[in-house]
Amino acid sequence: MNEQLHIAGFAGSLRSQSYNRRLLEIAAELMPPGMRLEILDIDLPMYNPDLESQPLPEPVRRFREGVARADGLLIATPEYNHSIPAVLKNALEWLSRPLPDLPASGKLAAIMGAGGRVGTARAQTHLRQIAHSLNMLVLSRPEVLIANASAVFDEQGRLLDEAALGFIHQQMVALEAGVRFLQTRQSIGEMIRF
Ligand SMILES: Cc1cc2nc3c(=O)[nH]c(=O)nc-3n(C[C@H](O)[C@H](O)[C@H](O)COP(=O)(O)O)c2cc1C
Repeated sequence: MNEQLHIAGFAGSLRSQSYNRRLLEIAAELMPPGMRLEILDIDLPMYNPDLESQPLPEPVRRFREGVARADGLLIATPEYNHSIPAVLKNALEWLSRPLPDLPASGKLAAIMGAGGRVGTARAQTHLRQIAHSLNMLVLSRPEVLIANASAVFDEQGRLLDEAALGFIHQQMVALEAGVRFLQTRQSIGEMIRF
């Protein structure tokens, strides 16, 4: 097996006790030994074309670099008003500009989410559509949809749903296999330039 894969993860919530941030940490614990997770901060200035002139704001530069150096991505999203939260959309905007560098282009991402009754299903559907515009590849399955988050996490942030833990582990196994598969092929990102 090749060297350890470096996965960059970010959660679409700035809340200090975010369930979605916890999901990333749990995913890190359940990753196969061939992977490691770096969690990136997406508390970024609101995207504004005027800010594109170099140098980029430091948090933006760090975020884009973190994504660029990763072998694969992991995004955990809450659902806000049937879509992804603005903070996540903003981070994705910063991955689409300034052109021509698209740091996420050609990278395989796994997505997961913890939320209310539908377990972020609508937000994840929107996220897949946006990821498409960034030329990201998104794993289809297994899906990780954590419904009624406040009932399935305990006060220490442990996820009490065994089936969900199994899906997270399976998703990490699939992410590793997918990234390694892509690494044997020419980078799709190199072939598609704006
Ligand atoms: C502004 C706002 C809108 C929300 N809209 C939805 C929604 O449309 N569907 C849903 O399932 N949950 C919705 N929620 C609940 C969040 O999904 C829930 O609070 C979740 O735990 C937030 O993720 P976090 O714990 O990572 O911060 C909403 C919460 C907020 C604050």
